[in-house]
Formats: sequence, structure tokens, C-alpha cells
Amino acid sequence: AANANTAVLGSATPSAQAGEAATLTILFGSQTGNAKGVANQLKAQAEARGLTVKLVNMADYKPNALKKEKFITVVVSTYGEGEPPEDAENLHEFLYSKKAPKLAGVKVAVLGLGDSSYEFFCKTAQDFEQRFTELGAQSIFARADLDVDYEDEATTWVNGALDAFEPDLKAQQGNSAQVITMPGIATSTSQYNKQNPFAAELSLVQKITGRDSTKDVRHVEISLEGSDLTYTAGDSLGVYFLNDEVLVDETLSLLSIDAATEITLGDKTISVRQALIENLELTQSYPAFVEKFAAATNNVELVKIAEDKASLREFIEPRQIFDIIRQHPAKLEAQALVDCLRKLQARLYSIASSQSEVEEEVHLTIGLVEFETFGSEHFGGCSGYLAKRAEEGASVKVFVEHNDNFRLPTDTNTPVLMVGPGTGIAPFRAFLQEREASEAQGENWLFFGNPHFTQDFLYQVELQGYLKSGVLSKLDVAFSRDQADKVYVQDKLRKNGAEVYAWLEKGAHFYVCGDANRMAKDVHQALLDIVQQFGGKSEEDAQAYLKDLRNQNRYQKDVY
Ligand code: 2AM
Repeated sequence: AANANTAVLGSATPSAQAGEAATLTILFGSQTGNAKGVANQLKAQAEARGLTVKLVNMADYKPNALKKEKFITVVVSTYGEGEPPEDAENLHEFLYSKKAPKLAGVKVAVLGLGDSSYEFFCKTAQDFEQRFTELGAQSIFARADLDVDYEDEATTWVNGALDAFEPDLKAQQGNSAQVITMPGIATSTSQYNKQNPFAAELSLVQKITGRDSTKDVRHVEISLEGSDLTYTAGDSLGVYFLNDEVLVDETLSLLSIDAATEITLGDKTISVRQALIENLELTQSYPAFVEKFAAATNNVELVKIAEDKASLREFIEPRQIFDIIRQHPAKLEAQALVDCLRKLQARLYSIASSQSEVEEEVHLTIGLVEFETFGSEHFGGCSGYLAKRAEEGASVKVFVEHNDNFRLPTDTNTPVLMVGPGTGIAPFRAFLQEREASEAQGENWLFFGNPHFTQDFLYQVELQGYLKSGVLSKLDVAFSRDQADKVYVQDKLRKNGAEVYAWLEKGAHFYVCGDANRMAKDVHQALLDIVQQFGGKSEEDAQAYLKDLRNQNRYQKDVY
């Protein structure tokens, strides 16, 4: 249905070959939906120019079809330690394999999305461009590697890339085909989105870990009343927040900037203080800040740190942006400071509720980021705002980020296995609410883990209620620090290996949410071992089994 909105009307029937040749194929690989969003924008712009486009998720793309392509754009994000998003894995691997075809005569342009606070920034986009050109394709428009505030530059890139493709496409398209674009099917009735967030009421912020817990986890409820915003279990909520005024004022005084000084930000003129509170990132540090701040303040020591990538990472790691300023005060013009900082990014949280249950509310499960460093208490930007500074009744700007890669099975009879330690429980609370509301007959099995039973059993009463009512068929918990040896969710999976495998064999969907770096990898390894042991498979066959699960959308991750 990728081309459902486009009809090609031929004056004569265009030959199949001409039709193929004159198509711009847009391949996207998205983890959270940003790359997909840009790919959609590219499609819309191309169609507005009268070009024929084919928009395909890499996950649904048959790699052998590459041989038939002439014009390709790739929009792909990078994830974790320079890895492709799951949807891009197969095509990525194919391009590096012996099966990859020669692509002489193919014209390509690649756009990367990423987060420059990670070491392997936009690595996947670089891989794609490199492999395409090594296989003989010609890059006809310079790759751009865009950071978290990618929107404006993405628009610029889309227009530039289309300028580059258009003459060739039009020449090949000739007069044989004329494209009309029918109005797209609206996917959402709400006018609110990332660029135009809804000012929602924060109705409740409640600590749900115990007084003696090592963690502070908050159950948050927000009202979407009046927004027409809708979401599906598995989606995330983007939340904008306000920076701590105390830190903002300290920052301004360290740099000898008068708080009332007006600065320009995009097309707005506002006071520097307001900009720092509402519009600019002051907590999460990233390489470009150090580079710009070092140059703006002529700080030799910082310039030196910024020159070496490894030392820069090490320097950034324990520091929030205001730490860097605090440790390197200088005299700086207000506008110069603003030009060093990037736009404040909304934080995304997996939604912990289903609208079938909570209607116009949206619930979140948020771990407060807090740590002591350089002699002071530090909080995460958004979690600190929600847990420590925002009052109930406050207005918070939010939007819904849809995630088609994390969805309950459409057949409600399908069994579901969920692994969600810590705040990874969030989307599964949504799933369970949804399964209950839809009177799903499929069984539900949840694995939850946290340090201590008495302190950290998030949503204990609800989960035990679900067990009692039968919504949950099984609940396995791993309280890691309640005994001498650590017990984790993957240990519980292994212990139940025979039954886990039996569930997979009877068609269960397997979901993981939570920590990407350790937990999700260990859970994956446990699954591999289980499939080997109880399926009597070699390691290679077990790998293939899991890959197959993924291709069937039966193994889905929401990890961070
Ligand atoms: P720990 O902090 O006691 O080591 C949620 O954060 C839970 O995940 C905690 O119980 C935590 O245990 C546990 N955890 C830590 N590392 C993990 C890993 N590699 N795999 C699974 N769970 C892990």
C-alpha cells in the first residue's frame, strides 16, 4: 500500500521498464519513527513536484529488487552503538554480503538521523552510502548527518535532494505518465504534533517506589482533554519541560549576562532567561556544545579537549551542560551563548496506559534521573522537572509519537510474552489494559524485575489483580537484590525455558522494553539459548529462528 495515494495515468500504457526507471524509491529505516516521518515528507514533496515515488520500509523491502532500481533515496537512523534500526538490519546485512548486486547506473542520496551525544553518530547512514557507492551507485546529493533537532535541516536536505533527482526523473518519465496525487488518508485528527505540541494538564505525579528504594520512579498522569490526540498501546509521549530556574540564573551570572537581554531564536525575539528556561538544552551535554563554547570563550583547555574525540566523550559523560559552564566561566554575549546551545528536545516516554481504559488521559512511568557529582545534586532535565519542580495542575507541552514497531498482535487470541524490568514495565501496563478492555482470549505472560520486592514492585496491586482476574496468565518477577546472588529477568526466562519455547512455538509474540545496553542484549542471549536447548537447534539455526520471529513482527523491542 506504499503507493496507495498515487495513481499513474498513462496517455499510452507506459512500458513496465520506463515506469520502473522513472520511479524514485524512498527506503527508510526507522526506530522511533523520525526517519519514517522524514521519508513521508520526502514522498509528499516529490509528489508535489509531479514525480512518481515508491515509499518502502526497509523491513518490507526485498533486497533483490535493488537490481531494478534507478533512483534511490535512503533515510535511516542510527541506534545504540552505531547499529542500524531493526527494520534496516536485513538490508544493511545484504549490502555487505556476497549477494549484493552491482549498482552501476543507480543514483542515490542518503540522509542520516542520529544523536551526536553517541559515539557512532549516523554510522548506519554512512554505511549505506559507502556500500551503495562501492557497489557502483553514484551519490548525486551530499549525505547529511542530522542531530536530534533535525527538522529544519531535513526540510533543506529534502528540497536539495529532489532538485538533484528531478531533472533525470522527469527526463525518463517523459510524457508517458502523468501523476496525480490524491489527498492522503488522515491518520490523526489532532492538529498537535512535535512542532506544535499540546499544552496539557499535569494531573498527577506519584512516587511508586518505596521510601527506602534506591530509585525514585513516578507514575504520571496527564490529561489530553481538548486535544483530540489519540494513541495506541505501544506509542510514546513526547514531553517538553522547563529547565531549572536556579541553574539558569546561575548560568547567566557565571557568564556575566543580564537576564533581560533579548536574543533571537529562529524567528522569535525573547529574553535570554526565557530562552534558557523554555527553549534550549542545558542538561544533556553533547560534543558540538563543547566545541562551540570553547571557541566562543577562547578557552584553550576546552579547545584541546574538543580536539580529541575520545577525551571529548570522557569529558562529556559525567557533565551536564551547566557543569561545563560552571567549571569554565567566562564573559560571553547573550546571543553567543544561545548560538552555542541546541534546541531543547522533548523527551520520549513509552505510554503506560490504554485509551480503552483511561480515555482522554495518558499515563507514564518515569524514573527520576538523579546523581551526585562535582559536589552537587543533579537531576535529569525532564524527569527532574516532572518529579521535582512541576506542580500538579501545571501545563506541560506534549505530543504523541506513534510506534508501529511495538504493537500488540492484531489477533487477540495470540499469546503474548512481555519482558519489562524497571520502567520497562510501562508499555506492558498499556498492553494489559488493552488486552483486558478488548476481552482478548490470548494468554499474557509478564516478566518484571527490579532491586527489591518491598520497595520496587511497580504497579504491584494492579499486576496481582490481573493475575487474579486471569488477564495475566503468568507473572514472573526477578528482585535482583533480595538474595545473595543477582537474579534478573533473563534468569527467569531461562528457568522457564521449556515453556517459553512452547509459547513461541504456539505463535506467541515476544516483547522487550527497558535498558538497551545490557538487559535487552542479555534477554536476547537467553532467548537464543532457550531456542537452542528446547528447540534442539544449532546456534546458527537459533539465530535464524529469532530473525524469522522478527521478520514476522513477533519479536519487538522498545529499548533505550
Ligand atoms: P541491579 O540494579 O540489582 O543489578 C531494573 O533496573 C532491574 O534490572 C534491576 O533489578 C537491575 O538489577 C536489573 N538489571 C541490571 N542489569 C541487568 C541486566 N544486564 N539484565 C537484566 N536486568 C538487569
